[in-house]
Amino acid sequence: MRKVKQNDFTVRRAAPADVPTLDQAIARIDEETEFLAKPGEYLRRWAPGFAERLKELNAKGTGAYLIAVAGGEIIGFLGAYAGPVARTRGVIYIAHVGVRERWRGRGVGAALFAAIEDWTRAQGAWRLDLRVDTKNGRGLALYKKRGLAVEGRIVDGACREGVWCDHFLMAKALRPLGEPAWEPLELGSGEGAREAVTFRRLRAEDAALLRAFQRTLLGETPFLLAQPQDVADEAAMAKALAEGVKEPGRFDLVAVAGHGDGERIVGHANAEREAGIRMQHNAYASTHVLRDHWRRGIGRRLAAEVENLGAGATPAPPHRPPPGAQHPRAALRDGMGLPAGAGFAALRGDRGAGRGSGKVGEIFVGWAKRF
Ligand SMILES: CC(C)(COP(=O)(O)OP(=O)(O)OC[C@H]1O[C@@H](n2cnc3c(N)ncnc32)[C@H](O)[C@@H]1OP(=O)(O)O)[C@@H](O)C(=O)NCCC(=O)NCCS
Repeated sequence: MRKVKQNDFTVRRAAPADVPTLDQAIARIDEETEFLAKPGEYLRRWAPGFAERLKELNAKGTGAYLIAVAGGEIIGFLGAYAGPVARTRGVIYIAHVGVRERWRGRGVGAALFAAIEDWTRAQGAWRLDLRVDTKNGRGLALYKKRGLAVEGRIVDGACREGVWCDHFLMAKALRPLGEPAWEPLELGSGEGAREAVTFRRLRAEDAALLRAFQRTLLGETPFLLAQPQDVADEAAMAKALAEGVKEPGRFDLVAVAGHGDGERIVGHANAEREAGIRMQHNAYASTHVLRDHWRRGIGRRLAAEVENLGAGATPAPPHRPPPGAQHPRAALRDGMGLPAGAGFAALRGDRGAGRGSGKVGEIFVGWAKRF
């Protein structure tokens, strides 16, 4: 990508060798604003292993970190990630952006955005999106100036110093895509299976079972964002599960049919809390059941367990939500048919998932419920 030279600073792509200085710059910027991570959180939670992750991002093109440098000092940064599955790879999410306090209002943010847009186009990607606090006037001014538009609002998206704050979801389409290629689907009623189903927590050694479940699910349900080829291989899934089931903010429940070697997963509920301290009251949840087992109450039971989890959760310390505002939330993705009945409200539409040869589909990305 081109280097952007702007008066007295330069914008360029960060390399792993920049990481020690970049870590310090991000940590300092977090201290200088209320709109990014809580001070101290970045170094504790995100800095470990960042150089390796950045190396991989740069090698695979799955994201980019840009830095603004003046006199050898990093004065601003922007980190962005491509969507995790093939259909969302062209959606670039700007995860965080910040400028040192004394440099704000001098065009650094605008230069970082021009550079990420260049990078995004060079990837062949078609869309930029981000979340921003509705009270962040300077951020909003910058994003609007760069052509991003507000597409939705996340109520209580963050808890800042004991105050609930809403977020806007903003986005910019970088190139037009065609009409959705969604064909009407004949889904049938399920009711094919009669065998007994039991419910249990997912175990670290379930990688092969979970993989088989996901491949069957995605093969028979083409409107989900992921496709069978997105499913991780068994070694990668085993590694992810070994780490994931130990995560305190993660919950997995499976519906299982058969016994011993014949055991099969036929339903799965997953909920994961947001990692950031200011957003830990949000849990992203999904519930899926194989079609043969529809209409047996399995999805209802799985969703109810996720709800119990949400209702029982309290925001992690040191949050002190204002009185009367104890609202851990669950956002349910892909919960076809379930959320409305379970009191979930649609969170947002139109996230520009591409299908097939670059077609765009209008989808709901989430449903949210307060507890
Ligand atoms: C938001 C942020 C990244 C913007 O970067 P920046 O370098 O200050 O932005 P720029 O100087 O390029 O200004 C971009 C636009 O913001 C607006 N802006 C600048 N100063 C402003 C101010 N004091 N108040 C409101 N808007 C302002 C202007 O529209 C400006 O464009 P213009 O100069 O052509 O009129 C930066 O201010 C920052 O780090 N803030 C704290 C962290 C943060 O909020 N991050 C974003 C979280 S989503």
